[in-house]
Amino acid sequence: VTRAEEVDAGPGAPAGWTGGGRPGAGWEEAVADRLGRVVAEGRWRSPRSFDALGVAGTLSDEGRAVVSFASNDYLGLTAHPKVVAAARDALGRWGAGAGGSRLVTGSRPVHRELEEALAEWKGCEAAVSFPTGFAANLGALSVLGGLGGRVLSDELNHASIIDGCRLARAEVSVYRHADPDHLESLLSRGGPPAVVVTDTVFSMDGDLAPLEELAAACRRHGALLLLDEAHAVLGPHPGPKVTDGVCVVRVGTLSKTLGSLGGYVAGPRPVVDLLINLARPYIFTTAQSPADAAAALAALEVVRSPEGAALCARLAGHVERVAPGHPSPIVPVVLGTEERALRCSEALLAEGLWVPAIRPPTVAEGTSRLRVTLSAAHTDEQVGRLVSALASVTG
Ligand SMILES: Cc1ncc(COP(=O)(O)O)c(C=O)c1O
Repeated sequence: VTRAEEVDAGPGAPAGWTGGGRPGAGWEEAVADRLGRVVAEGRWRSPRSFDALGVAGTLSDEGRAVVSFASNDYLGLTAHPKVVAAARDALGRWGAGAGGSRLVTGSRPVHRELEEALAEWKGCEAAVSFPTGFAANLGALSVLGGLGGRVLSDELNHASIIDGCRLARAEVSVYRHADPDHLESLLSRGGPPAVVVTDTVFSMDGDLAPLEELAAACRRHGALLLLDEAHAVLGPHPGPKVTDGVCVVRVGTLSKTLGSLGGYVAGPRPVVDLLINLARPYIFTTAQSPADAAAALAALEVVRSPEGAALCARLAGHVERVAPGHPSPIVPVVLGTEERALRCSEALLAEGLWVPAIRPPTVAEGTSRLRVTLSAAHTDEQVGRLVSALASVTG
């Protein structure tokens, strides 16, 4: 299974672009041919520039005012005054970049402070931060998967997990989506010590992994359970039925709930020490900027305060209006064909609502969809507009 999270369908290929047939041979031709295939498959993408602070702004190329339902800034903390002020103070104190990798010259006091706060938040002995959540998965899986020799991965796991499995140089088995029985049968076949890895909230469907059942299978077979909690702003929050008697390692990102940039791995102290010493995406890369670390630390303080609880409640209320009973702020509206998903996304855009269309290869053929992501920063009025526009556009 290979998939990657799609961010945006983009405005389309440049006019007149046909791909192959350019003069020249070798690489130039190969690149042109490959690009031509992307165009021919209708899968050309390029980033849209969004001039915004928070959810409302302007798509710069088109000059169109829109409300974004496309970001993972679930609690609106990218623009929170305390978060912005913390980043600004860090810029003044330590400058723009860390200047080196963590083990050489890149560590600043704020990195350690952030790691201690993350470990405490997650109820773990220790945590280590990475430049991105993607790098955190690469680091954790390459080291732990390589140590054990076998990785079992949910078929709908995020692209960074899939790539981490590849880097592990381990035997990799993919179990059916959210299916603990299939996992159990794979574990029962025996083999080297296993790492079981799963998103806790899946990034394209917004559904949850059955954590207690997965943990029970890990407990029975002595497997390590690696949880990617990137989207778990509203839970699930693993309790003792998940963590007791299992070596649980938790990966997260600072870029979604915490509104900044970076990733982390939290778990037992020896696991974290091993990553610090062996994980190449930690060792051979420049440290996350001090301003990003400071912003995440300030955001974490907000999340853990009564204000954070209120923001989560507000977000849960928005989810309830859009999709009653749905467990996360990622709400898929599955439409079937790519054409239909693109058409509906364009129709919403015409009404000033930016909801990306997600198509194969990111999701399976025939399940192209709109992917709505909600934020506590959305106003009640904006969510109301979305609900009625979705009904009229997809109805
Ligand atoms: C499930 C999951 N894991 C990891 C990541 C990577 O996180 P980051 O954006 O911090 O690299 C993402 C983000 O796209 C994700 O959806």
